[in-house]
Amino acid sequence: MGTISLRKAGKQYGTSEIIRDLDLEIADGEFVVIVGPSGCGKSTLLRMIAGLEQTTSGKLLIDGRDVTTAPPVERKLAMVFQSYALYPHMTVRQNMGFGLKLTKLSADRIKAKVDAAADTLKLTPLLDRYPRELSGGQRQRVAIGRAIVREPVGFLFDEPLSNLDAALRVDMRLEIAKLHRALGATMIYVTHDQVEAMTLADRIVVLKDGRVMQQGTPHELYETPANLFVAQFIGSPKMNVLPCSRSGEGRLDLSGEGAIELPLASEAAPVQIGARPEHLFLVAPESGHCRGTVEASEYLGGNTSVFVRNPRLGLINVSAVADSPFRIGEAVGIRIDGARASLFGADGSAIARRQAA
Ligand SMILES: Nc1ncnc2c1ncn2[C@@H]1O[C@H](COP(=O)(O)OP(=O)(O)O)[C@@H](O)[C@H]1O
Ligand SMILES: [Mg+2]
Repeated sequence: MGTISLRKAGKQYGTSEIIRDLDLEIADGEFVVIVGPSGCGKSTLLRMIAGLEQTTSGKLLIDGRDVTTAPPVERKLAMVFQSYALYPHMTVRQNMGFGLKLTKLSADRIKAKVDAAADTLKLTPLLDRYPRELSGGQRQRVAIGRAIVREPVGFLFDEPLSNLDAALRVDMRLEIAKLHRALGATMIYVTHDQVEAMTLADRIVVLKDGRVMQQGTPHELYETPANLFVAQFIGSPKMNVLPCSRSGEGRLDLSGEGAIELPLASEAAPVQIGARPEHLFLVAPESGHCRGTVEASEYLGGNTSVFVRNPRLGLINVSAVADSPFRIGEAVGIRIDGARASLFGADGSAIARRQAA
């Protein structure tokens, strides 16, 4: 079992509140990714769960047991850090078995556990090597192996892939997803990288200034962000946000630059419309919802990001086909896929859309 619950959990350093009133219920076997900008409290939260930092208010439960003040060893969680923290003078086998040597386990049992973990992580041929003889990805696998042999009820990962180059990060991401399927253990994974969050998570928790901005499946966060922060944090390239106002029943005015018909609840008063680059289309200047001038374009192989400047709406990123015929300086129209757009009120919260009849 490995259910983890935080109930109004908080952390203060002196007078500064780092984590505030955080409620989180993690099911056994779930893969939860905590994502947010640098300094928002991700590592602090993970260290609170691990027992490496004291929780200063609220409660933490593991498998229903209150462990708010329990020492790390009683929590049966294993933590994997960004820096691998391997012992340089020990082989891979010794590094992986070291934690177990401190328990009363027999040498045979330790060997069996290390062999099994090495097999899962494809480290068997490397067991007699020293850390300096390994690549970054292999070192991180050893660090994960050291966690696996302890058979924890849950794994805590703190930005484990940040030190790896981009190609290796993609490989390791797939490895970690596979490992989660193989072990079926609860995993909490902290990252500032929204792509890692989208690809790994059963559920994403978006953190800002120690508060949960939204939690949900990657699909829910992408399609129905609860607020502007989540809307712009999740998705790459990020969502365009354009000022607008209501100009009649089911009609939004784009700051005098055009209008868009949308089914709106009668009381809704959106002040911004959010549209992802892939939900915008370049059309002839007179036939779009708004218009502008092509300021720059970035050819990305599979598609091209076209940046269109409108004096009142700002710089708008439109994802166009790779061989987009539009040239710098050209006047273009932009059509917005209204059905996929998000609306935000004055406080930045999303406004629910009335379903089109
Ligand atoms: N020991 C500490 N004493 C005081 N402030 C701290 C301490 N550790 C972290 N902080 C502060 O807590 C905030 C969150 O830090 P951290 O959890 O490391 O963020 P993240 O992992 O999201 O980048 C930061 O503003 C940091 O300066
Ligand atoms: Mg951190």
